[in-house]
Amino acid sequence: MNTIVWQPTPVTKADRRRLNGHSSCVVWLTGLSGSGKSTIAGALELALHERGVRTYLLDGDNLRHGLNRDLGFSPEHRAENIRRTAEVAKLFVDAGIIAICGLISPYRRDREAARAMFEPGEFIEVFVDCPVEVCRSRDPKGLYKRALAGEIKGFTGIDDPYEPPIRPDVMVQTDRTPLRECVRAILHHLEQRGLLG
Ligand code: PPS
Repeated sequence: MNTIVWQPTPVTKADRRRLNGHSSCVVWLTGLSGSGKSTIAGALELALHERGVRTYLLDGDNLRHGLNRDLGFSPEHRAENIRRTAEVAKLFVDAGIIAICGLISPYRRDREAARAMFEPGEFIEVFVDCPVEVCRSRDPKGLYKRALAGEIKGFTGIDDPYEPPIRPDVMVQTDRTPLRECVRAILHHLEQRGLLG
């Protein structure tokens, strides 16, 4: 028997959004390591911040230093990593803030489970698309080199799968599109949805 009862709060999400002067949502960036998630997330946050939009950036790598420090890269741990991050993002959305999440999130089912935690229209999936060969040549952290040398097992795109979104809300191709255009495409989508006030 469930013994936990949900406690409503006197100040609601709608009240907080009104006070902020804009709506809230989660922008979920998914893509391979080295595809450009963190770069786009940072530039997007800066662009929104400069427009007076309240934001918070949740970067997969950074969260793995604290909240998710007990998790590895097995399918189960990746699923838990995404679930926890989505729960945190949901709190930010409830606070009236645009949460920007950058995680590889390689499995469709985990991303769909994350989407299902939000109200319709609140979860915006952005596919940061980049061929694995390009990510490998960028190799900003030297991890592809280590994975190819067999030093890292289960590295996404090398010996672990990445399932691209079938119908992402936004897709950016970072091997052929300049950063500012990628950011503009996401901003345009947020504007079209009337999220920026
Ligand atoms: S996931 O799959 O969503 O749970 O991953 P995420 O939390 O985004 O963390 C990915 C970063 O961890 C580093 N790393 C690995 N990535 C993929 N596979 C393996 N095995 C792995 N081991 C370490 C890597 O730097 C990822 O960071 P990004 O920013 O994506 O390059």
